[in-house]
Amino acid sequence: MFSQPGKTKFQVDLRQHLRDQNISGNLVHLICEVAEASKYVINAVRTGDLGVAGTSNLYGEEQLALDVLSDRIMRKRLQHSGVVCNIASEEMEEIFQVTSNPQGMFSVAYDPLDGSSLVDVNLAVGTIVGIYQGQDLLQPGRKMVGAMYILYGPRVSLVYSVGKGVYEFTMNQLMEYTLTREQIQMKPCGDIYSPGGLRKKYNESNERFIRYLEEKGSKLRYSGGFVPDINQILMKGKGLFMYPALDGSPNGKLRLLFELNPMAFLLEQAGGAATNGEIPILDIEPEGLDQRCPVYIGCREDVSKAGEFLNGTC
Ligand code: AHG
Ligand code: MN
Ligand code: MN
Ligand code: MN
Repeated sequence: MFSQPGKTKFQVDLRQHLRDQNISGNLVHLICEVAEASKYVINAVRTGDLGVAGTSNLYGEEQLALDVLSDRIMRKRLQHSGVVCNIASEEMEEIFQVTSNPQGMFSVAYDPLDGSSLVDVNLAVGTIVGIYQGQDLLQPGRKMVGAMYILYGPRVSLVYSVGKGVYEFTMNQLMEYTLTREQIQMKPCGDIYSPGGLRKKYNESNERFIRYLEEKGSKLRYSGGFVPDINQILMKGKGLFMYPALDGSPNGKLRLLFELNPMAFLLEQAGGAATNGEIPILDIEPEGLDQRCPVYIGCREDVSKAGEFLNGTC
């Protein structure tokens, strides 16, 4: 499986692996630039100020100093990469245009530090990135050419796909990302569920779905961080994460461009599924940068069952 004679998979670094996959030079460079930026985000998470920034993001949410710092790290890296034309961030009010010439360029939508409010209680957090060819960031997620996340946990891991399967890299003592899992695959159904949001705000269909999951023996696993919660499901190959519509929040909480599209891309690449309860997340036509939607993501049979409870056929 490895083109590196005499090398075990643990010695294959990210750039070499991407080249071996015959991925275009510009996309290899972009993915590696995000990987390099993550090393500065790690430093910010471990040593940065835990207070508020005194500003708010495009959702009107109060920003933490770490949101702003990690956003600057990501934006600077992408801006100077030489292969990015437009940038959108959960922490920026509008699209940042690097160049008006989209020739051979990518546009990137990212959440620079998902779960930032968990850092002060030392829980795992992450960076989420979606990659589009050309300048249009408001395309359905199915048009993405790649997606990745970096998980800042007890170990630092990077998971990516460019449409040829899902791969995991883990940071070693030299702060290099080396290959640790390849062609990650989801089982058809699982026994873990991660129910986001306040349960007392769930509607009857979602409440019945939760009872169904519990009756079939699913265990509740929820950290409050989207990246570690999704990573657990991907690495175990089983489970379902949901952040449904809530009473007062018909679109749930999670953000289509910055969180759901990249994770949906990865889960579908791993043989899983992701919907808003009705249609695949990746088929949703974005109406704006700040779009939120309900999400059911994980094993395809569990995701499909959620849809049955929501449309009343179960
Ligand atoms: P962010 O820190 O980028 O604003 O996102 C946090 C999100 C996501 O990480 C997680 O799944 C969700 O918030 C948890 O929300 P609740 O605290 O309402 O469960
Ligand atoms: Mn987030
Ligand atoms: Mn965030
Ligand atoms: Mn936030």
